[in-house]
Amino acid sequence: MNAEKKRLVVISTRVPKSAILESDEKQRTKSVSGLVSALHFALQDIDSLWFGWSGQAVTKSRKAAPQKSCNGSIELVTVDLTLGEVDGFYTGFCNSTLWPLFHCLPSYVRLCQNAYQTYQIVNRDFAAILISYLREDDLVWVHDYQHIPIGTELRRLGWMGRLGFFLHTPFPPIDILEIIPQSKQILENLMDYDLLGFNTQRYCKNFIDALCKEFGGTFDGRTYYYKQLSVHCNAYPTGINPSAFEFWVNSADAIEKRRRIRESVYNRRIVLGVDRLDYTKGICERLLAFEQFLERYPYWRKQVSMIQISVPSRDHMPEYAAYKQEIDRLVGNINSRFSEDEWLPVVYLYRSYLQEELSAFYREADVCFVTSLRDGMNLVAKEYIASQSNNFGVLVLSKFCGASEDLQEAIIINPYDIYETANALKFALEMPNRERSARWQALMKRVCNHTAGAWRDCFLTDLQGFAIK
Ligand code: F6P
Repeated sequence: MNAEKKRLVVISTRVPKSAILESDEKQRTKSVSGLVSALHFALQDIDSLWFGWSGQAVTKSRKAAPQKSCNGSIELVTVDLTLGEVDGFYTGFCNSTLWPLFHCLPSYVRLCQNAYQTYQIVNRDFAAILISYLREDDLVWVHDYQHIPIGTELRRLGWMGRLGFFLHTPFPPIDILEIIPQSKQILENLMDYDLLGFNTQRYCKNFIDALCKEFGGTFDGRTYYYKQLSVHCNAYPTGINPSAFEFWVNSADAIEKRRRIRESVYNRRIVLGVDRLDYTKGICERLLAFEQFLERYPYWRKQVSMIQISVPSRDHMPEYAAYKQEIDRLVGNINSRFSEDEWLPVVYLYRSYLQEELSAFYREADVCFVTSLRDGMNLVAKEYIASQSNNFGVLVLSKFCGASEDLQEAIIINPYDIYETANALKFALEMPNRERSARWQALMKRVCNHTAGAWRDCFLTDLQGFAIK
C-alpha cells in the first residue's frame, strides 16, 4: 500500500489496550485474539488510527468522552460502553446470536429483538463519534461481525471515502444465515462497503450465494451487482508475523521457559492445544480423541502428555461456563483413568499467556492439535509452524478451520470423528523425520507467504484500486 499518502483508520471492538485484562492476577497477561494480533502486526509501520471499545463497562452517567492514547506508532481512540450496551451489544447480539450463527452452530443461537436494537444503536453511536476523527482521504477499514452496520451509518452521515470490511469469522451458508430474522438487513449493511474481505474463498462464496438468493443480481468473479449497487468481494487470508515468533522463541526467557516445560512433562513427547475457551474450538472433541488415542494405543501411555492451554473468555455467559465445566470433567476423567506415578496425561492450564511465552510452548510441542468445529482462520496453527524453526513439529488441523484452505501439508482431520482424530494423532507422533521436515518446510513457506503484512497490503491495494461508489 502507499502508506505515506493515506492514513489507515481501523475499527474493531477489541483494541490492543483492552486486550490487557484488568484483574491484578491477570494484569500481565493478554487475551488471545486473532483479530488484535493480526491487526497489531499489520499497523506497526504505517500512519494509522485504531478506533474501538475501551473495554470499560460503566453506568450511563460515568460514560467518559472518547479517550485518545498511543500504542507504539498507532493512535488509539476508544469509547466506553454502558453496562446495558455490553449486555445487549457484546454479550447479546454479537456473542449469543452472530457468533454461533456465523460458526454454523445453530443450537447456540439466541434470538432477542432488544439485543439487535442495542447492536444497531452502539454501531450508530460508534459511527457518529468516528466521523469527527476522519480526514477526507483516509482509508476506513471496519473489522468483524460486531460492526457490520458501521458502513451504512458512515454513509448516512455523509462519508464519501473508501470503506472496506473484513470478516475474521466464517460466513455461513444462506440456510444457516436465514435462522435470524435480521439476515436481509445484515446483507444490505454489507453491500454498503466498497470492498468485503473474507478469510477463505468458501466464506466469500457463501456470501455471494446469500446475496444472489436474497436479491438476485449477478457476480462476475470479483464484483456483485444488483440494480445501482455493487460490492467487490474476495478472500484475503489473515496471517502472522513469522519473524516475531522466530525471534521470541530464541530469547533467553523463552529458552529458560522451554527447559521448564520439558522438565514438567519429564521429557515426554508433547501434544499441544491452545485456544480461547470457546465451544467453537472443539476442545471437548480434542480431549475425547486424546482419550481414544490412549485407549487404542496403550504403548503410547507414559510416552506423551497433552498440554491444553485454555484462555478464559466470555466466562460470564452460561454457555461458556457450562463448556468450561465439561472440559474440567473430561480432563479429570482422563487423568483419573490413565495417570501413573510421574505421568499426567493432560496438563491443563486455564489462563492466558503473552505471545512470547506461547512461543516457548509451541517450540517444545511435537504436535499442535487444532480441532475447531468451525474457525475463521486459526492463527495458532500458523504461530506453531513459525515457532518450530527446524524442530519439524507436526500440525494436526481441523478441516473446518479457514487455515486448512492454505496449510495443506498439515494432517487434516474431521474433529467430529474422534476415532479418525485419534489415528491422526498416532500418525503425527510416529511420522518419520524426513516427512516431518518436508511437511514443516512446505508449511513454513506458506506461513511466510501469507503474513499479516501481506494480508493488509493485498486488501488495501484492492480497496484503493476499485472505483469509488
Ligand atoms: O478474532 C476473532 C474474534 O472474534 C474477535 O472479533 C473477537 O474480539 C475475538 O475473537 C475474541 O472474542 P472477545 O472479543 O469476545 O474476547
